Amino acid sequence: MIRLSDTLVAAGRVSSSGQSLMERLKLGLSFMKTPRIESLPEFDDHRFVSFLYDHKSGLRGFISIHRAGSLERPAFGATRCWKYRSEEEAARDSLRLSRLMSYKAALAGIPYGGAKGVIMAPQEKRDQVLKSYAERVNFLGGRFITGTDAGIDDRDLNVMRGVSPYLVGFRTDPSKYTALGMVKAIQASLEEKFGNADIKGKSFAVQGLGKVGTNFLKLIYPKAGMIYAADIDRERVEYVQKRFPRVRIVPAASIHKQTVDVFSPCALSHALNRETIPELESAIVAGAANNQLEDKAAGELLHKRGILYAPDYAVNAGGLISVVDEYEHKKFDPARLERQVNKIGDTLAKIFAQSRKEKRPTNVIADEVAEKKFDGY
Ligand code: NAI
Repeated sequence: MIRLSDTLVAAGRVSSSGQSLMERLKLGLSFMKTPRIESLPEFDDHRFVSFLYDHKSGLRGFISIHRAGSLERPAFGATRCWKYRSEEEAARDSLRLSRLMSYKAALAGIPYGGAKGVIMAPQEKRDQVLKSYAERVNFLGGRFITGTDAGIDDRDLNVMRGVSPYLVGFRTDPSKYTALGMVKAIQASLEEKFGNADIKGKSFAVQGLGKVGTNFLKLIYPKAGMIYAADIDRERVEYVQKRFPRVRIVPAASIHKQTVDVFSPCALSHALNRETIPELESAIVAGAANNQLEDKAAGELLHKRGILYAPDYAVNAGGLISVVDEYEHKKFDPARLERQVNKIGDTLAKIFAQSRKEKRPTNVIADEVAEKKFDGY
């Protein structure tokens, strides 16, 4: 098993730095304090975890493959470039998010595994870092297929594409299909809660007005009733105010407290926690953000409060479905893609029915269904 300390030494950081013996000893001791990969809480018997380092470009990062990762069954997961405070934080993010990708793929009926690439945001030589990352992706020879996540834009994607053929997300905008999948998920949730899937006149609170949040607004704006929205970024708020004048902007700290039919977290992780759940005034929570629940118990709290929670990785599978379609088919067929995305609603309807029958939280049911599917990959 790889140790963070071993990988760092193997990558030559100690020997190539020209430090004094004392400095090297000190560094060695501090590396010894870094935890073993397999003892990190996010480690879940991952198939492959690799530390990436290139002293020429300054690349530092990780690629983690949770399940699958063969040539017949590659593992999918976008690449994130983030200001991690430490290598441990970056490693943990890649472990956690790669696991989530396995669950997302399994529930969406995608026969591939879950993976994640993370790059520690470079201060300089960005293009060189991206190219050297893409070379590492090539080492896996097609067992890992990747695209854009937070901190990677279309320009970055093109830089990496110049080096590696294992990048996806060029043909369509994945966030458009993530938003479409959200609408299908919300219709299934409305049907479960009110016996009627129609969005017409329903009220919404949208947290986060980035790529998915604004694509989602485009889809619901013509039919929905009251829409509240919030973002911490002033520019995003101004854009939404101009583009969707009927949307009422509220402070970011109070978006989850709005009395609405649907609260849609579309920002960062852990929107549903011990502080926010007691303050929710919505009948349904269904949004695109990854890792919405602070922990498993947060799902139990929502269940006890009678709030219908549509599990995040079931709701937000549209983006993954669109890049898998690009990987599998040379020719773009929007109708084929939409048929796949529409299935998100059916998947959720089954989870809701089982949760109702067994009186157990939806997040627990979703995890069990996904685990059964990818067991044995
Ligand atoms: P984005 O980076 O374009 O937008 C996120 C927005 O949330 C930003 O405008 C940011 O200012 C805002 N924000 C951050 N913290 C906030 C807070 N406390 N309150 C209100 N707003 C806040 O990201 P994108 O692509 O729209 O993704 C949104 C979420 O959906 C992320 O969690 C992402 O991992 C997840 N997701 C995105 C997919 C996609 O296709 N883009 C696919 C699956 C999941």
